[in-house]
Amino acid sequence: METPKKPSELALKFSAVTKTYPGSPPVTAVGNVSIEIPRGSFAAVIGPSGSGKTTFLNLASGLDRPTDGEVYIGGQKVSGLSRTELSRFRSHHVGFVFQAYNLFPALTALENVEFTLLIRGDSRNHAREESKRALAAVGLADKFASLPSQLSGGQQQRVAVARALAAKPDILFADEPTANLDSATASELIYLFETLNAESGVTFLFSTHDRNLIERVRQKIEMKDGKILPA
Ligand SMILES: Nc1ncnc2c1ncn2[C@@H]1O[C@H](COP(=O)(O)OP(=O)(O)O)[C@@H](O)[C@H]1O
Ligand SMILES: [Mg+2]
Repeated sequence: METPKKPSELALKFSAVTKTYPGSPPVTAVGNVSIEIPRGSFAAVIGPSGSGKTTFLNLASGLDRPTDGEVYIGGQKVSGLSRTELSRFRSHHVGFVFQAYNLFPALTALENVEFTLLIRGDSRNHAREESKRALAAVGLADKFASLPSQLSGGQQQRVAVARALAAKPDILFADEPTANLDSATASELIYLFETLNAESGVTFLFSTHDRNLIERVRQKIEMKDGKILPA
């Protein structure tokens, strides 16, 4: 039997987590899931459309709350935090990259990244410095002043990654981050994730159904009908 990991060694832990969306009939998108993801992991949630990947990532990142069970991020039980406590915790520990980038169209690349740091209360100087550093780390040092509309899809997604990284999260979630990208650009984005994971040790957990990407992932979490299939 494996020795159970101490909470501090875990980036993420689900303890009998269920999410049921109300309706007639109600839909159980994640059903009684327990899982542990060690710090530093490079893991992907895979499975067909409707299997519960987005719901799983939303619960894991504190964007959504379980109907039942507990979610721990880096040892912190997030399912018990108040709205304010959760939003404060997330702004320091959790990064999230969306499939559709979700950048502010009227803000430059640099302003898009700075924004998250400023609203959590970082000083202007610090926000600017960290944002420039993060954009340089994703290969966009020459695009600080560009608006999203002046960037390709792959570049916009890298701005979104820089925005998530600038906050220096412990764990970075990405929900089908390559779904809107061509295969070469998708491959570059995953290479960037691999490099960041290796160099900064930040835990990555992303969802995909791209076969080429799945092959490059060490830990695969396979979902079907709201359950995680045995490895
Ligand atoms: N907000 C919601 N309200 C009701 N049902 C939902 C909602 N979000 C997702 N679902 C349902 O939950 C199931 C899992 O969806 P989702 O987590 O989006 O899966 P995936 O990301 O793998 O496509 C699906 O049956 C979906 O229709
Ligand atoms: Mg989804």
